[in-house]
Amino acid sequence: MATRPVVEVRPFPVTRRRARPDSTSDPVMNKSRRAVTARRLPWYPRSDEGRTVDESSRSGPVSPPAGPLYTPLHPDTLQDPYRAFRLLRENDPVHWHAELDSWVLTRYEDCVAVLRDAQRFRSDFRSIGEEVPQSALSVQMLDPPEHAAIRHLLVGAVREQRFGGLRTEIRELVRSRLAEASTGGTFDFVERVARPVALRTICRVLGVDEPGGAEFEAMSNAIVRSMDGGLDGSRLEPGARARAELSELLAAWAGRPAPGTFIDRVMRRRERYGVPAPLVINSLRAMLHAGYESASRLLGNAVSALVADPQAGAKALHAGVPDAAIDELVRFDPPVQADARVCATDCGLGGRRLARGSVVTVLIGAANHDPAVFTDPGRLLPDRSANPHLGFGKGVHACLGAQLARVEMAAVLGALAQYDDRGLALRPAGDPVREPTATLRGLSRLPVRLEAGAAGGEQ
Ligand code: HEM
Repeated sequence: MATRPVVEVRPFPVTRRRARPDSTSDPVMNKSRRAVTARRLPWYPRSDEGRTVDESSRSGPVSPPAGPLYTPLHPDTLQDPYRAFRLLRENDPVHWHAELDSWVLTRYEDCVAVLRDAQRFRSDFRSIGEEVPQSALSVQMLDPPEHAAIRHLLVGAVREQRFGGLRTEIRELVRSRLAEASTGGTFDFVERVARPVALRTICRVLGVDEPGGAEFEAMSNAIVRSMDGGLDGSRLEPGARARAELSELLAAWAGRPAPGTFIDRVMRRRERYGVPAPLVINSLRAMLHAGYESASRLLGNAVSALVADPQAGAKALHAGVPDAAIDELVRFDPPVQADARVCATDCGLGGRRLARGSVVTVLIGAANHDPAVFTDPGRLLPDRSANPHLGFGKGVHACLGAQLARVEMAAVLGALAQYDDRGLALRPAGDPVREPTATLRGLSRLPVRLEAGAAGGEQ
C-alpha cells in the first residue's frame, strides 16, 4: 500500500523511517516495532466464509492472532481483507503498523474524523517538512487553502460536463461491449467490459483519444503497483517513472487541446484561478488514472459481488432506487481501500496519542464494514437505506469522479437488468483472479457467461 493521499499514490507507500509517534510512551507501538514483515503471515487462516458472511451474527470478539494483525499483501488478505479489518477493529482499532510506519485505522468513527479534518490531518507532506517532488503535486496532495483553487477549477469543469449525452453514450457502450463479449460464451468481464468502458469514458470526459496499447497499460499498472510501495519498495521507482511518462502525455494533450473539451476549458481558465500549468497537468493525470483504474476496478468488484450472490444481484438490478444499489456495491467492496494523511500537530485519536508527523492510514474498506455503522456489514444489501460509506472519500478531497463512476455503474446495472428481463443472467464461469495490489483492490480476471435463468436464480 501507499502512504501518500493520492488517487495515483495512495496510502501504503509509507517508507519513511523518521520519528513518528511517541514511541517511548506507547507500548503498543514499541511492541509492534518488533512485528514481522508483510510476507511472513502464517497465522492467517484462509477464510472459508466467503465475501457475504454476516459479520454481525458471529458471537463474541475474534481472538487476536499471535502474528501481525495486518499484512496487506499476503494472498489471503488480498483475497479477503475484511476479516483482517475485523480483527484489527476488535483488537486494536488505532493500530501502530511498524512496517507501514503508520497508524492504521479501522473504525468508521476514526476514519471519518480524519478525512473531515484537513487542518490536523494533512494530505500535503510538505506541511511536516518533507520534500515532495514537483511531479507528485496534484489536487490530491494539497491542503486548504492552496487546494481550493485547483479543486474549484476542476469541479467547475466537471459540473459543466453534459452528463445527459454522456450517460446515453456510456449506456450504449456497455450494451454493445456486453453483447459482443457474450456471443462467444464465456468471457472475461474485466478485459472485455470493465476496462474498455472505464477508459473510453474518462477519455470522452477529458476530450482525448484513448491511449490504449501495451505501453499505456504498463504505465498505468506501474502507478497502481507503486501505491503499495511502502510494503514493497521495488514498486516505487517504476511508479515514479510511469507518472513522469503519463504527465508527458497529458502535457502534450494540454498543449494542443481540442476546442471546448474539458482539458481545453481548464487550461484556458487556470490563470484566472492562479493555478500553475504543471499542477493542472498532474491533476489531469490523476483524473485519467483514477477514471481508468478506480472505475474499472469498481465495475469488476461490483459485478463479481453480484454474480457471487444471485439473490442480492437480482435485487440490485431491479432496485427501485438504483443509487442505493450503487452505493451498496461501492460500500461492499470499494476499489480504493486506503488513504493516508499526516498529523500536522500532536493529536488524540481513538484514545491514543499521535505525534506530529505521524502518518495515518485510513482503511476505507474497514470503515465500510464497521458494524457500529452498518448492520450486517458483510452482506450485500442493495436496498440498504442509510449508507454513509467512505468509498468515494469524505471532506475536501472527496472524489471528483463519483458522479461519473455512478453513471458507469448505472449503465452496467441497466444493461444486466435488460438481460434479466429477457431471462438471461450473468453467471460465474471460473474463479476470479485478484490483482496483487492492496491500496487499489480489483480483479485482473472475472470469467462469466450469460445463461438462461433470472438473476435471482429462481427459474
Ligand atoms: C470515474 C472516474 C474518477 C475520477 C476522474 C476520479 C478522480 C478523483 C480525484 C481527482 C480525486 C482527488 C480530489 C481532491 O483531492 O480534491 C479523487 C479522490 C478520491 N476518489 Fe476518485 N475518481 C474517479 C473514480 C473513483 C472511484 C470509482 C472511486 C471508488 C469507488 C474513487 C474513490 C476516490 C476516493 C476515496 C478519493 C479520496 C482521496 C483522498 O481523500 O485523498 N474514485 N478522485
